[in-house]
Amino acid sequence: MSGDDARSIAEKLTYLSGFGNEHSSEAIPGALPVGRNSPQRAPLGLYAEQLSGTAFTEPRAHNRRSWLYRIRPSAVHPPFARTDNGTLRTAPFNQTVPDPNRLRWDPLPEPAPGTDFLAGLWTLGGNGDVTQRTGMAVHLYHANASMERVFGNSDGELLIVPERGGLLLRTEFGLLHAEPGHVALIPRGVRFRVDLLDGTARGYVCENYGAPFRLPDLGPIGANGLANPRDFMAPVAAYEDVEGPVEVVNKFCGNLWAATYGHSPLDVVAWHGNHVPYVYDLRRFNVIGSISYDHPDPSIFTVLTSPSDTPGLAGIDFVVFAPRWLVGEDTFRPPYFHRNVMSEYMGLIEGAYDAKAEGFVPGGGSLHNMMSAHGPDLETFDKASAAELKPQKVDDGLAFMFETRWPVRLTPQAVRAEHLQQRYDDVWQGLKRHFRPLP
Ligand SMILES: [Fe+2]
Repeated sequence: MSGDDARSIAEKLTYLSGFGNEHSSEAIPGALPVGRNSPQRAPLGLYAEQLSGTAFTEPRAHNRRSWLYRIRPSAVHPPFARTDNGTLRTAPFNQTVPDPNRLRWDPLPEPAPGTDFLAGLWTLGGNGDVTQRTGMAVHLYHANASMERVFGNSDGELLIVPERGGLLLRTEFGLLHAEPGHVALIPRGVRFRVDLLDGTARGYVCENYGAPFRLPDLGPIGANGLANPRDFMAPVAAYEDVEGPVEVVNKFCGNLWAATYGHSPLDVVAWHGNHVPYVYDLRRFNVIGSISYDHPDPSIFTVLTSPSDTPGLAGIDFVVFAPRWLVGEDTFRPPYFHRNVMSEYMGLIEGAYDAKAEGFVPGGGSLHNMMSAHGPDLETFDKASAAELKPQKVDDGLAFMFETRWPVRLTPQAVRAEHLQQRYDDVWQGLKRHFRPLP
């Protein structure tokens, strides 16, 4: 399908609203059973199938599962056989020495012609162990072809952060449209295909092997704020009734496996549940900050969090630095210098980030691993230290962070990459001593 056709489909989509809702949707009226999940004969000759995203027994508030009513059950498939992993890698990441240095990359180079979203995934690094369902991976993607094949990831959910080029995501649950400035989430196990709307697409992916992302608790903030639940959009049911060969690729414990089905697995005519893909427009994030002095820790910008077994300690926080006003009195307004027990991968969707005057470009990224010292660069420090503290709108960029509990260990390709910047440390070298013991 051409990008124009896909775009006209993408721009007409309607959605179901609300994070974690018990949604239900049917592409044909009457396809969804009423009053039970698995009737003796499901409507319209469909097969009923449950997809579990959490263990059956997890607390109700965190339990994720959906019921799918499909033309064929997912069990109808030939054996999978190993296929090339390309540049996609999975934890444990143990091929390089953990690096305490601050690192920064330029955007990925142009891909070869015919590179689809899956082939365009390039893993920077990560942590944890996929077989233990802990940790995460940082991927980037750069693609120039729509997918013909269908992909599903047994290893975790995929948080897709487009930076260039719109995407039409055709999932088992229906269609989603994601542009730069939006994020899309594909839950563990959900099959999907990506059409490119602009011929080429580039961005970031956080693969979460751990507990599904949820909205952070708000504590004293109250009942509203940060990412509001109603702004998360799930698809309405839409199915493909395709008989004929379809290549399906599954990532399982780090390896890609492929099988040629005799039909499209995107054949779900109706569904209900809360284990669903969704899109969210980061510009709807309700940014909260100080109206007196200092500014809160950047956890105040958390969009989604994947909790760990330790209360308050996330496996991953997904954080956005969205347009906002700075009004702090007697305050150094850019992000402060700090060292953090958590590890921070930062990317830039557009514009510039208020702690880095140059070198941090859209499509690029930086890694500040556990306890590595970082903060504003020289130019930013000098400017912010002398600035007149009028109310100031920071609205020239959209940056984000994957902040994770464990150090991010790099893949060999990230260490060797030509787009790894060689002199990132220089941005802090000009910060001179200003210390005067006697006033
Ligand atoms: Fe930081």
